[in-house]
Amino acid sequence: MQRKVGIEALAVAVPSRYVDIEDLARARNVDPAKFTSGLGAREMAVTDPGEDTVALAATAAARLIRQQGVDPSRVGMLVVGTETGIDHSKPVASHVQGLLKLPRTMRTYDTQHACYGGTAGLMAATEWIASGAGAGKVAIVVCADIARYGLNTAGEPTQGGGAVALLVSEQPDLLALDVGLNGTCTMDVYDFWRPLGRREAVVDGHYSINCYLEALSGAYRGWREKAVAAGLVRWSGSLPGEQLARIAYHVPFCKMARKAHTQLRLCDLEDAKDSKAGTPEAREELAKSAASYDAQVASSLGLNSRIGNVYTASLYLALAGLLHGEGAKLANQRIGLLSYGSGCMAEFFSGVVGEKAAERMARADLDTVLARRERVPIEEYERLMKLGSDAPETKAPPPGAFRLTEIRDHKRLYAEGG
Ligand code: CAA
Repeated sequence: MQRKVGIEALAVAVPSRYVDIEDLARARNVDPAKFTSGLGAREMAVTDPGEDTVALAATAAARLIRQQGVDPSRVGMLVVGTETGIDHSKPVASHVQGLLKLPRTMRTYDTQHACYGGTAGLMAATEWIASGAGAGKVAIVVCADIARYGLNTAGEPTQGGGAVALLVSEQPDLLALDVGLNGTCTMDVYDFWRPLGRREAVVDGHYSINCYLEALSGAYRGWREKAVAAGLVRWSGSLPGEQLARIAYHVPFCKMARKAHTQLRLCDLEDAKDSKAGTPEAREELAKSAASYDAQVASSLGLNSRIGNVYTASLYLALAGLLHGEGAKLANQRIGLLSYGSGCMAEFFSGVVGEKAAERMARADLDTVLARRERVPIEEYERLMKLGSDAPETKAPPPGAFRLTEIRDHKRLYAEGG
């Protein structure tokens, strides 16, 4: 019998400050409706140099271990997916191993492919366990990033930061993955990138949206072909995509999930042999169905709309938001997930929500995680953005969180709040 493998539990870490997106719009002389209904944002996380990727990743991993009672000696693999690491050589994962005093017998490494890096780590961990190579051990995959485009740029309202730590095991209380059915699509494009030495990403914004949609189409069709063959979805009655209870997308900004869902429906409508929507115009109209978006996607976006883009973690924030609100309702139902990383790579995969999802999510205490943040005015956000990345301010980390305190001899030193 095939092993059941997937996500047992998760934990979220967010920066201690945020701005209200309408404050940002007003400061930029933009109609707030562009950022709220045009992009789908409400709030945006703001980091200071002390809250770097290591600090966020370590805080999320420590929280996962504490909240879910993970026995550290059972952890055999720690992967950090990030595109905003802190060194060209030393991985974030090695810092997390040291800060959390995790076993020296573990395999540790970082994975990078823009926002897809976390999914690369999740798949490596899942396949390691499914193959039997894990020999009963569990894996921790941390998706951690700080999204930065810079002041007064088009990408500015789509910044954010944070980390999601995933516990991957043979007890998938949150989501049992359909191993082997993933669909993938990769293309060599310059849609979003960050040349060495730059803190801010370079992005061809509208082109990046098109690349996302094209890669989604390839990945979704790949998954659908295997899912139909495996009998998980059918070309009869409703569309195959409609047979998934929910779909969580990579969310660089919330409106992108709506565009992604329209594109996924368009794939089904174009490929259906007996499509009732004969003309391209009729298919486009049906693809945009607000009812379908409301039923399958909207409930996953609560956290993303309050935190912003977290690159590798954005898809897993959508999963967290979905299961936080609907974990009990979705038990034993199949959901779809779409990961996208610029450059580019998309992967569509699916899984069945576990019966203990609501119980596991309650332990993640996401309302408290968000409620502890401080809303700051735009002047303070701009001051923080202008601080050098190597100049953390002297500030004690809150209990259970980590913070960069100093860089000495090119070595980064961290403290844990007691
Ligand atoms: N009221 C309501 N809506 C309004 C409005 C108003 N007053 N003014 C504009 N809008 C709407 C627009 O119609 C548009 O909606 P649609 O896309 O549905 O037509 C939306 O607000 C945005 O308007 P613009 O396209 O004019 O905005 P922009 O050109 O200033 O920038 C952006 C938008 C390209 C997304 C920019 O924020 C950006 O470059 N972001 C970073 C890149 C990004 O996130 N790319 C996503 C794909 S790549 C990826 O996913 C990887 C990753 O994580 C980065």
